[in-house]
Amino acid sequence: MAHTVVIFGASGDLTSRKLIPALYLLHQKGRLPKDTRVVGVSRTKFTQDAWRQELTATTQKFAGKEFDAASWQKFASSVFYQPGDIDKLDHFQALSQQLDALEGGPGATRIYYLSTSPALYTAAIANLGASGLADESRGVRRVVIEKPFGTDLRSAQELNRATHQVFAEKQVYRIDHYLGKETVQNMLVLRFANSIFEPLWNRRYIDHVQITVAEEVDVGRRAGYYDHSGVLRDMFQNHLLQLLMITAMEAPARFSADFIRDEKVKVLRTIKQMTGGDFARDTVRGQYEGYRQAEGVPPDSQTATFAALKLHIDNWRWQGVPFYLRSGKAMSCRTSQIVIQYREPPIMMFRDGPRTHMDANKLVIQIQPAEGIQLHFQTKVPDAGMKLRSTDLDFSFAREFTGVMPDSYQRLLLDAMNGDASLFARSDEVEVAWSIIDPILAAWQSPAAPPLETYPIGDWGPASSDAWMKAQGREWFDVCPVLH
Ligand code: BG6
Repeated sequence: MAHTVVIFGASGDLTSRKLIPALYLLHQKGRLPKDTRVVGVSRTKFTQDAWRQELTATTQKFAGKEFDAASWQKFASSVFYQPGDIDKLDHFQALSQQLDALEGGPGATRIYYLSTSPALYTAAIANLGASGLADESRGVRRVVIEKPFGTDLRSAQELNRATHQVFAEKQVYRIDHYLGKETVQNMLVLRFANSIFEPLWNRRYIDHVQITVAEEVDVGRRAGYYDHSGVLRDMFQNHLLQLLMITAMEAPARFSADFIRDEKVKVLRTIKQMTGGDFARDTVRGQYEGYRQAEGVPPDSQTATFAALKLHIDNWRWQGVPFYLRSGKAMSCRTSQIVIQYREPPIMMFRDGPRTHMDANKLVIQIQPAEGIQLHFQTKVPDAGMKLRSTDLDFSFAREFTGVMPDSYQRLLLDAMNGDASLFARSDEVEVAWSIIDPILAAWQSPAAPPLETYPIGDWGPASSDAWMKAQGREWFDVCPVLH
């Protein structure tokens, strides 16, 4: 079956850094459906050859060691370019003719990938509709929409409405690249293909859950975008809530898009909405030192580059088990991890001198880098009476498997081509996610806001974040991954 991937925003950074390398590596591994072509669309007046040449250089850079000149040449011969303006219907009509000519007949599956500025999504979708490009009478048509999907609940609803005027929900693939990460998918396997974890995955045994996505990089040259977005929109509404859903969801009856997404949405719907004093008590916000001096940031910017939230899931499994979510830029190291913190044994009969408190068990799921899982537990120190020490069982993908961890976009692009939406967000999912984030954003603009504290670059966030946990008798798992 022929496939055409049409990338709008072809001259953009995401296309050269992620999309083309992912498609090329899929080709190299023989995973792309036969007869797949890529058509780039953007305003730049590239010739076909000029675009191919530019992509040769960027793909060489971003595919790294896996780049192979001969297979690239083969792939590049199926890469085409069409200059076009998202606002111009006649450009879509011209594109439609070009696609028909390239495909040489009906039946090809088309993926329209919106990798443009989000401000152009509505116009792109409307023109795909008006030019007949969304019509499925001559083949399957799907649209992939990059993040951010809206900037708040209202804009997400509007975008959903505009999208549904042209595409049925089953044609829509909203990307969250965190779902394409191998280790995030492995959470489903860990939980639902093993029987030893699930019985312990609830309020009876778990004290709390920590989800951390720490980044070492600062906002770099993205300050213009970031200052309007901040960490809640940039990381929490999508990536952190996705990780929370995967951690907290019930077992779907089947591994299929709607079964999985039904269970995920149920989790979001049961998150207790914050009101009144909750915002000051259950949220922490921070800004790294020097952020206000970055180009494009106003000197009095109140944008948070770090946040920590305490969320409560009001259902039978999780009642009383707080989920702590935190993320920030310019932190100690790059690490994304989920920590399942188990309860302490009810009675500690092994006394280590005056010490009666031992570290309780932890299951640490290391999403990236150093992908793996560690189970922390107590063990007896040999030949030292009943002295105990924390140790861990450590599973590492790199030790266990050979080959390079594929970038998320490989899996997600292939799934979109094959019509599997399991790892994409559904319309209700993004809307409920915004309905959790919006009140926090609003409270942070009001007297109910916790103070915006600065933190030194290279730290784990503001000091108040640690103090906040300590005041609750808990501690962040501040460990940078050890790379093997
Ligand atoms: C993006 C955010 O969605 O995710 C960036 O806009 C962030 O600010 C990035 O750096 C993190 O992704 P990853 O895959 O590097 O953890």
